[in-house]
Amino acid sequence: MTFVLAIDQGTTSSRAILFRPDTSIAALAQQEFPQHFPASGWVEHEPEDLWSSTLQVCREAMSAAGAAASDIAAIGITNQRETTVVWDRRTGQAIDRAIVWQDRRTADFCARLVREGAEDIVTARTGLRLDPYFSATKIAWLLDNVPGARARAERGELAFGTVDTFLLWRLTGGAVHATDATNASRTLLFNIHDGNWDPALLELFGVPASMLPRVLDCSAHYGDTVPDLFGGSIAVRGIAGDQQAATVGQACFQPGMMKSTYGTGCFALLNTGGAPVASRNRLLTTIAYQLAGQRTYALEGSIFVAGAAVQWLRDGLAIIERAAEAGPLAEQADPAQAVYLVPAFVGLGAPYWDAESRGALFGLTRATGRREIAQAALESVCYQSLDLLEAMRADWPDAQSAETVLRVDGGMVASDWTMQRLADILGAPVDRPQVRETTALGAAYLAGYSAGVYPEPERFADRWRLDTRFTPRLDDATRRTKVAGWRDAVSRTLTRR
Ligand code: G3P
Repeated sequence: MTFVLAIDQGTTSSRAILFRPDTSIAALAQQEFPQHFPASGWVEHEPEDLWSSTLQVCREAMSAAGAAASDIAAIGITNQRETTVVWDRRTGQAIDRAIVWQDRRTADFCARLVREGAEDIVTARTGLRLDPYFSATKIAWLLDNVPGARARAERGELAFGTVDTFLLWRLTGGAVHATDATNASRTLLFNIHDGNWDPALLELFGVPASMLPRVLDCSAHYGDTVPDLFGGSIAVRGIAGDQQAATVGQACFQPGMMKSTYGTGCFALLNTGGAPVASRNRLLTTIAYQLAGQRTYALEGSIFVAGAAVQWLRDGLAIIERAAEAGPLAEQADPAQAVYLVPAFVGLGAPYWDAESRGALFGLTRATGRREIAQAALESVCYQSLDLLEAMRADWPDAQSAETVLRVDGGMVASDWTMQRLADILGAPVDRPQVRETTALGAAYLAGYSAGVYPEPERFADRWRLDTRFTPRLDDATRRTKVAGWRDAVSRTLTRR
C-alpha cells in the first residue's frame, strides 16, 4: 500500500493524516497542546509541544492504518504561519517559546517603523503590512530580549524558522534548514517579486542573514527523516503554509478562484495568477504556491478570530460545552435583538489592521442571553468575511461578478446554520466541498505530486467535489440593516481610523 502523510501543525492542535493515492483518508490523528498567554496580547507555544505532538500524531496515524515507513511515499508539512521559533544550531533547542502569529507584543516596534516611513518599502517588497502579525519583529524581539541571543545570532549559532522549518529540522535530525516560498512570504523579510531574502529588510529589522533557511518550491525533495523516528526514513517532499495548502487542497489553481478557511482565524485567498496584484484596500499580496520555480500569487484577507470566537464561548464564557453546540444555540436567538460581537481579542486584521483594538459586545438588553451571544459570535465571522470579500472585489475587478463563489473549509463549515448565514451576509454563494480536510490534502498533494503519486494540478482539480452550495436567502433590506449595524460596532472599537 502507498500513502502520503500530511502533517498539519496548527495553532491549537497538531494533526497527521494519511492519504491514499485516490486522496481518500486512511487514518487521522490529532492532539491539542497548551496555549500560553503570559501578558495581554501575548500568545506563545512551547516548541517541544509542537514537536512532540507532531511526532505522536504521525506515529498514531501510521499505527491506525498499519502503515510502515516504507509504505509512505512522502511527507507533506503544512503549518500555522508566521509563528516564530529561534533555536541553537548545535543543540536544536529553542532559545525561548515560539511567538505565535496572534501575538501583539511588537505593536510599538511596528508603530515606530511606520512613523519612520518604512511601511511603503516593506509593502512594496513583501506585499505585507508593518504589523506584529508577521515574523520579522518577533525574531527581533527574541534577539533583543533573550540574554545573549543577538551576539549568538551574529556568530551564526542560531537558526530561525517558521514552524515548518523547525519541524523539518527536527525530522531530519538537524540536517536540513529550509522552508518553502509561501512560508518565507509571511516573514516580512522575503522579496516576493524576486523570490529572495531581501538584504534591506534584514537590515531594517536587524535580522542576521545567517539565521535564515533556504527557500524551495512547495513541491520538492526537502530531505529525509532520521530512520529511528518512524522505523525507517521517509522523504519530506512538500511544504506550504496552512492557508496556501488549503488553496491547493481546494484546487484554486485558476486566477479568480477563491477559498476561505475557518480555523482559529479565517483566511481568504484569491488566486491572482503569475503577477502580484498590489492591494488598494488593505489586503495582503502573498505567494499562493511555487511550483517548478514559478510563483503564483494571491490576494489574502486575514482575520485573527473565527473559530477562536467559538472557543471563547466554550472556554471563556462557558455557555457551551462543545464547539458543535454554537450553531444550534445561535439558531434559537431572538431575531428582534441586534447584538454584535467585535472579536478583536488580539486586535483586528484585514482590512482594519488595528493592533490595539480590543473586543466588545454591543446591543445588549436585559433579554440578551447565551443564544444571542452565540449568534453574535458566529455572525461576526460572517461580517468579517464580507469585509474581506468587498476589499477583494475592489482590488480585483473580476471578483465583482455575481458568479464569484467562495470555496470554504475548516472546522466551522460543519455548521449548516453558519454557512447559510455566511451566504446570506455575503450575498454570494458558498461552496462546501466533500473533502473538508483541505489543508492537509493540499500538503499531501504537494508532497505526493513530487513523489509521483498525484497528477499535475489540472487533473488534481478535476477531483474536487461539491458537498453543498449555500445560496443567499436573506432579503436585501434586512441584509443592509444588519451589515450597517456591524460597521457601526466595528467603528466603535477602532483606535486608528
Ligand atoms: O496566519 C496564521 C494561520 O496560518 C493560522 O491558521 O488554521 O491555525 O488558524 P490556523
